[in-house]
Amino acid sequence: AIPVILDVDTGVDDALAILFALAHPGINVLGISCVAGNASLERVVENTLRILDVADAPPVPVAAGASRPLLEPARSAAHVHGESGLGTLKLAATDRQAESISSIELMHRLIQASPHPVTLVGLAPQTNLALLLRQYPDVVDNIERIVFMGGSTTVGNATAVAEFNVWHDPEAAAIVLDSGVPTFMYGLDVFNQVAIPEPVAAALVRSDSPLAHVVGLLLSNRVALGSGRNAAYTGLIGDAGAICALVDPDALTTAMLPLRIQLSGYGRGQTLVDQRIHPGEDIVHGLAGDWEAAEVALDVDVDRYVHLFLDTLGLGSAL
Ligand code: BDR
Ligand code: CA
Repeated sequence: AIPVILDVDTGVDDALAILFALAHPGINVLGISCVAGNASLERVVENTLRILDVADAPPVPVAAGASRPLLEPARSAAHVHGESGLGTLKLAATDRQAESISSIELMHRLIQASPHPVTLVGLAPQTNLALLLRQYPDVVDNIERIVFMGGSTTVGNATAVAEFNVWHDPEAAAIVLDSGVPTFMYGLDVFNQVAIPEPVAAALVRSDSPLAHVVGLLLSNRVALGSGRNAAYTGLIGDAGAICALVDPDALTTAMLPLRIQLSGYGRGQTLVDQRIHPGEDIVHGLAGDWEAAEVALDVDVDRYVHLFLDTLGLGSAL
């Protein structure tokens, strides 16, 4: 199984990703690191611990990291994920406790102790990942790669051009990209596609199984969505798609492309992706600096990830 550390801001779809990762036999979740993003750090930690109960998971270390981005104050995503971060879902309190060390410390220890290189999976603003790489640069020797949900080659969501996770802490994303660790971007190009049909989500909500019920509520959560063009985003598995990318990369069309993070102006937080056939040479600016090569997911076999997600959770019969 692939040893992974999840960095989350749980978060409706982070919850789906955690449930899916814990259920998949090809993934070994070593620990979960929490960061402020979709909700405050305290809420994120509490939501994460509670979702472990839903999964009936064995003890998994969970720790709190950064409560705000490197430079800016935290900005609420309550309009998308609700005040609690889990939309309309109310989860029972849990006896599980977060670790007493910071999640930067936890990640460092887990990476050092792992006999195999660890895959870091960023499903949130990348503040914790940047702090880890800056504070403990030696970790790069035992990191396989960083797979992150974030960015976009086209449309944004936090702004017209910037995706939320990168936008919330662009400096952190730039540090991660520049770290020398191979990076894989699972951005809005694919994130916005993988959706469970609404009748299937509705059937899950009605199920007697507590897991199916919670997954159904998370999928059919409409806090974010309103109507009109956004209605297309109903039923997204969201961050869980980045976990699918770990175990079924062949369902994705990807390319190694030059990538950079915009840090200023309206485009702050935008991921610029150079998709020219001969990238890297600008007619006006000559050879462009500050680009890093990253593997970028451009398209996805939606049906395959829908099945993978539901089958792994034992919910495939709902389809
Ligand atoms: C990302 O931001 C959050 O709203 C989601 O959990 C996802 O990680 C999408 O832009
Ligand atoms: Ca997230």
